[in-house]
Amino acid sequence: MKDILNARFTVEMIRTVTNMYAHGWDERNGGNVSLLLDAAELEDYGLVKTLRTIPMGFSAPSLAGKAFMVTGTGKYFKNVQYDPELNLGIIRIARNGCDAELLWGYSDGGKFTSELPAHLMSHVSRLAADPKNRVIMHCHPNNILAMSFVHKLDEREFTRSLWRMCTECMVVFPDGVSVLPWMLCGTNEIGIATAEKMRANRLTVWAQHGIYGAGRDLDETFGLIETVEKAAEIYMKIAHLPVLNTIRDDELRLIAKHFGVTPRDGYLD
Ligand code: 13P
Ligand code: ZN
Repeated sequence: MKDILNARFTVEMIRTVTNMYAHGWDERNGGNVSLLLDAAELEDYGLVKTLRTIPMGFSAPSLAGKAFMVTGTGKYFKNVQYDPELNLGIIRIARNGCDAELLWGYSDGGKFTSELPAHLMSHVSRLAADPKNRVIMHCHPNNILAMSFVHKLDEREFTRSLWRMCTECMVVFPDGVSVLPWMLCGTNEIGIATAEKMRANRLTVWAQHGIYGAGRDLDETFGLIETVEKAAEIYMKIAHLPVLNTIRDDELRLIAKHFGVTPRDGYLD
């Protein structure tokens, strides 16, 4: 029997959340990650039996039968590497679409992140947009948070400000960022609102809280958030200074053309 602790996806998950902590994006229990797994592959690791059934408090019928590795609620990313089975879990969405069947992890009797609604509802949105999407990632990067206090929350303007901060931004997130105003976290309502945004693009800022990213693998999703956070850092460094130079819209168009990406419709003048 193969050991789940040596599975490629477990190792990548541990490395990713450790790195997120190292970047200062996940103080205390801040942040959560969910990774869509190949449910059939789990049999190779002996993960077939339901250890516990945990109600989710919302319904995601299109995900029935799908399995996810999900960080635990209240768990610290800095600790995941030392006890993965305590801090992570693998759940399979039950046939009724409303319960999670625990296959592994949360070994202290814990459960999945309080942000499961935003995660699973966003998986539904992203899978509809890109069947290869596997990851939803949430964290609290300092400069994205700071920017959400001093920049208008209009998502076109927010995206344009970020695109102008580094040449690579247009290449990495041509689909832009969506922005939600402050909302109570850990609720179905913020889950629904996030998933609605995630239909159009892979990044959603939660004002005065953090960011959600989506991608085909952990590296890609990490890189997406890393790039936005860097752009937000430059923005915060220069926001109070007279700006003498910028990247113009015709130059942003040139970048998009050269790298073969399509900027979000209507976001360039
Ligand atoms: P959890 O500990 O429930 O994952 O919550 C952390 C968080 O970032 C809430 O938005
Ligand atoms: Zn959070």
